[in-house]
Amino acid sequence: MLGVEDLSISFGGLTALSGLSFEVAEREIFALIGPNGAGKSTVFNVVTGLSRPSAGRVRFRGEDLLVLAPHRIARRGIARTFQNTEVFRQLTALDNVLIGRHAQLRGGLLRGALGLPFVWREEAAARAAARALLDRVGLVGAAGVEAGSLPLGAQKRLEIARALAAAPRLLLLDEPAGGLNPTETQTLMELIRGLRDAEGLTVVVVEHDMELVMGISDRVLVLNYGREISSGSPREIAADPAVIEAYLGSEEA
Ligand SMILES: Nc1ncnc2c1ncn2[C@@H]1O[C@H](COP(=O)(O)OP(=O)(O)O)[C@@H](O)[C@H]1O
Ligand SMILES: [Mg+2]
Repeated sequence: MLGVEDLSISFGGLTALSGLSFEVAEREIFALIGPNGAGKSTVFNVVTGLSRPSAGRVRFRGEDLLVLAPHRIARRGIARTFQNTEVFRQLTALDNVLIGRHAQLRGGLLRGALGLPFVWREEAAARAAARALLDRVGLVGAAGVEAGSLPLGAQKRLEIARALAAAPRLLLLDEPAGGLNPTETQTLMELIRGLRDAEGLTVVVVEHDMELVMGISDRVLVLNYGREISSGSPREIAADPAVIEAYLGSEEA
């Protein structure tokens, strides 16, 4: 479904990704892990069109993504969440989800936000769909609550609901368990698994929480300094000395 081929990108003198290649199959849960600064979020930025690589190819269902603007990439069926949770804090949870839908219909999150109060906002079908998505992530009781006042775990799930409102086929989750407690993380794991099992979504997840990575991923790719150092099943990468060294090297230095 997603093919990344020989991807390289630099920022000034810093090489963020260097010759990275991987493929993600439809209905796969694929994890990208690695120390801070390894280039994980940069992969998402390139796939969603926010950053342009200096070399390489990115294909989605056979189509070249690198020639497309971000809103067109979104319309092809790719949605993401951000490492720093980015809900619209002063809007209700329901309106946050409605914006996600609007981004799909009209192209562009900002335009969606600006156009929010009119026409479709009152559209019963849109609201019902948004409520169903809140229900899907366990937040239907919070529909009328200001997003900024929700606990972090709920904001993270709200961001997922907003991404789902664009009806993606590929969902990119950037550190969805960051800052969550173990109970919230379990809920999140069940949600991600359910999105794949019940809705047939393909998921690429960047995450530091190894319980989540080991618990839900079909395959894992380990990045360090913008290069792949290992890939395989969770079991395989957990036993790879190169992975263990990269983690110990970065966390205990
Ligand atoms: N837009 C940017 N401008 C300059 N440097 C960037 C930019 N995006 C990422 N970087 C740098 O690229 C490297 C990889 O960043 P990132 O992909 O965010 O890592 P990760 O998500 O694995 O922690 C880091 O050194 C980061 O500072
Ligand atoms: Mg990151």
